[in-house]
Amino acid sequence: MDHIPQHLAIIMDGNGRWAQKRHLPRIVGHQKGVETVRRVVEECCSLGIKHLTLYAFSSENWGRPADEVAALMGLLAKYLTSELKMLLSNRVRLNVIGETAKLPDNIRQTLEGAVERTRDNDSMTLTLALSYGARDEILRTCQQLAGRVAAGEIAPSDIDEELFSDALDTAGIPDPDLLVRTSGEMRISNFLLWQLAYTELYFSNKFWPDFDRDELHEAIREFGRRQRRFGLTSEQVPDKAEQGGHH
Ligand code: FPP
Repeated sequence: MDHIPQHLAIIMDGNGRWAQKRHLPRIVGHQKGVETVRRVVEECCSLGIKHLTLYAFSSENWGRPADEVAALMGLLAKYLTSELKMLLSNRVRLNVIGETAKLPDNIRQTLEGAVERTRDNDSMTLTLALSYGARDEILRTCQQLAGRVAAGEIAPSDIDEELFSDALDTAGIPDPDLLVRTSGEMRISNFLLWQLAYTELYFSNKFWPDFDRDELHEAIREFGRRQRRFGLTSEQVPDKAEQGGHH
């Protein structure tokens, strides 16, 4: 692993199937999934990854059975409380993207507290996508920019990639270098549609509860073997050694 992505994004998939395979309730899969979150966050810190973004709850996930939604919210609240110390000791800054207004009040307050307590941390930014959908994010951004045009603050022609990026939920966070999705599904599922334009994709066959250090390292090694051309020819792009990223 000689090339570590600066920003790793993960679609954590397969908790339900992990449980069903064992004739256990789906929620047990989510509980196991939280343990994977814990391991992956710590491992990413020690690898020197600067941004880790986890798709924890999609805007579509609200449509799941009420008991599963409630259980996921409960796990999230528990995680935020039990892991705060770890986030602080690893100097991790917590960040949230998505339509957080839809979250239950107690979760929103716990989140806001954790974001506030970790705001000055500078080793890694852990972004949780909660009640997140990329089309929703893009539409909210359009509405916000249209409002600024209507108010006369900006002209339509001022809206370029930079201004648009800065108005998204992910403002200030570089685009992901590597996206990992677990459980063998090969879809983006409405995650970071704008931000993933040039991201390398890696699909792991492991269910999220089984996603371990070796599998994470394999994804990063594979990332290191790819040449990112950003639409140019291979002669035009500098050697990997000279490309962005960190060692
Ligand atoms: C996908 O598995 C996973 C989710 C919808 C939720 C991910 C949430 C966690 C790992 C726990 C809470 C998060 C944090 C950050 C503490 P699935 O249920 O879609 O699995 P399936 O496709 O096999 O049914």
